[in-house]
Amino acid sequence: MVSSSARVLVTRKLPEEVEHRLAKTYQTWLNPDDHVMAEDEILESARECDGLLITSADNFRTDLMTRLPRSVRIVATFSVGYEHINLAAARKRGIAVTNTPDVLTDATADIAMLLILGAARGAAWGERMIRENRWNSWSPIWPLGHDVSGRRLGILGLGRIGQALAKRAHGFDMELHYHNRRQIDPALAQGARYHARLEDMLPLCDYLSINSASTPETRNLINAKTIDLLPDGAIIVNSARGDIIDDDALIAALKSGKLAAAGLDVFKGEPNIDLRYRELENVFLLPHLGSATLETRVAMGMRAADNLEDFFTGKPPRDLLT
Ligand code: DGY
Repeated sequence: MVSSSARVLVTRKLPEEVEHRLAKTYQTWLNPDDHVMAEDEILESARECDGLLITSADNFRTDLMTRLPRSVRIVATFSVGYEHINLAAARKRGIAVTNTPDVLTDATADIAMLLILGAARGAAWGERMIRENRWNSWSPIWPLGHDVSGRRLGILGLGRIGQALAKRAHGFDMELHYHNRRQIDPALAQGARYHARLEDMLPLCDYLSINSASTPETRNLINAKTIDLLPDGAIIVNSARGDIIDDDALIAALKSGKLAAAGLDVFKGEPNIDLRYRELENVFLLPHLGSATLETRVAMGMRAADNLEDFFTGKPPRDLLT
């Protein structure tokens, strides 16, 4: 660890050991009550800062990047996803941007598997029944779930997290398929069969797991047309980004029975989600918990700190995006 005269604004509260490391190394501006900082507050607090450590809940898609004080030379995001950042604007301003890949792969793949199991087995329905004191007797014909073991799983986006999910799915003897823009090295594909066209994979998916990045190409990729290609009674889970799903189409398919269930950890416009999801019995909903373990959040913070340290000691940051 080096100490530096650099000044760093940290927009949200981070695990203690991460803040401790940052405070020991830099002059830091922390956010002890973890409130969401509005643009104006970020601009004001960033005055005279050299670097920013932000999160995926901070909206840097706007022109905020171009309005940052001239002193800011690096924005390190505490996330692997970076669709909340206007990279083109950062490039124009000469601001380095980094993310935190690798360290949240396992935690997020665990949540993807949890979504599959929770959606398939009606976990939310069952939990609600107990909490609402409606459990009167065991029943052979309760709303019944669906088997996971031995079923077919299609992974949209077989990157790091998709591959870690595939490993977990092997434990359930699932037959694996994937769609990426390009075929990956078969040694990494965990035995999943490649489909160059999403349309060719969808009819083979009892379960579809979304694990791709949010890009202009993937936005609303799961829509009425693509959902229609899934077998009747399929289950969709999303632990990637909400905007990959067209909510109207998903909700209609869950209501009509075209889809048996969905498991969602991410939502378009979260936390202001489409409230119709709350009315559906056949959804298992989580509030973006993909990376939310203490160990993983510490590792993410340390990785963001490593990137800042690289930058402020004159080395190329290990996770440089631009
Ligand atoms: C990520 O790192 O992108 C997670 O989704 C948390 O935002």
